[in-house]
Amino acid sequence: RTIYLNGTYMPEEEATVSIFDRGFVMGDAVYEVTCVLDGKLTEFDGHMARLERSLKELEIVCDITREEWLEIHRKLIELNGVEEGGVYLQVSRGTAGDRDFHYPPAGTPPTVVLYTQSKPGLVNDPKADKGIKVISVPDLRWHRRDIKTVQLLYASMAKMAAEKAGKDDAWFVEDGYVTEGSSNNCYIVKGGKIITRDLSHDILHGITRGSVLKMAKEAQMEIEERPFTIDEAQAADEAFYTSASAFVMPIVEVDGVVLGDGKPGPVSKRLREIYIDESR
Ligand code: PDD
Repeated sequence: RTIYLNGTYMPEEEATVSIFDRGFVMGDAVYEVTCVLDGKLTEFDGHMARLERSLKELEIVCDITREEWLEIHRKLIELNGVEEGGVYLQVSRGTAGDRDFHYPPAGTPPTVVLYTQSKPGLVNDPKADKGIKVISVPDLRWHRRDIKTVQLLYASMAKMAAEKAGKDDAWFVEDGYVTEGSSNNCYIVKGGKIITRDLSHDILHGITRGSVLKMAKEAQMEIEERPFTIDEAQAADEAFYTSASAFVMPIVEVDGVVLGDGKPGPVSKRLREIYIDESR
């Protein structure tokens, strides 16, 4: 792959970053994953708006403009011939030359990395036809989940716990309510109504979530934004999650309890179809 590092396009084997980089030592970095469909970016402005917000919340200064981000994304997609997949973008606070809890001095350049990930089969994913199974785990992450940082160790542990249990993903639960999935926003459907947690610092403000809810509204579907419990999910007709890399993914089992007839439900299937259609 040809990647982008601090202003230069180069083969991935040649890209190196300091061992004192704040991203490496402190997890002091933010990221975005923007989906590529048919060689084109989807939801680009949404992802860049969230990136700008994450940077601002953490006071990381990066003066790359939206136009420049677009040019880098497009160039990497072209250079690497990506048809279906995504572009990973990461901005860390850079390095002050040694490990230090204090931020490096103002003017220290951030470390900017972008690379493509080719993932043919995102649209025709057999998992979406079958539906996936989730377990629940306590949400032990920090309380600013609205900032998209690279501090993903607990999300990674949750994914591994799911795999160990023979399931596909994990839902985080806090104070009795589902916050979100390990790397996605979650929804249940009961009596035709779509229920998903409202936006706050408790969850990432998913770009796919915003678009899917808008499309659901346009399709006259009923939506309720509020937290829900695992009991409620297990009694639901259907469930699904959304993310840039999976669009709308039907869920057919929660903590060992099969939802409905154990197949992806009509609302999940319809929303997946609408979302993919409108993204192309
Ligand atoms: N994850 N919640 C969490 C914790 C996430 O990590 C993600 C995205 C989402 C969905 O956000 P969006 O719709 O903007 O992709 C919600 C990305 C895909 C990842 O970490 O790879």
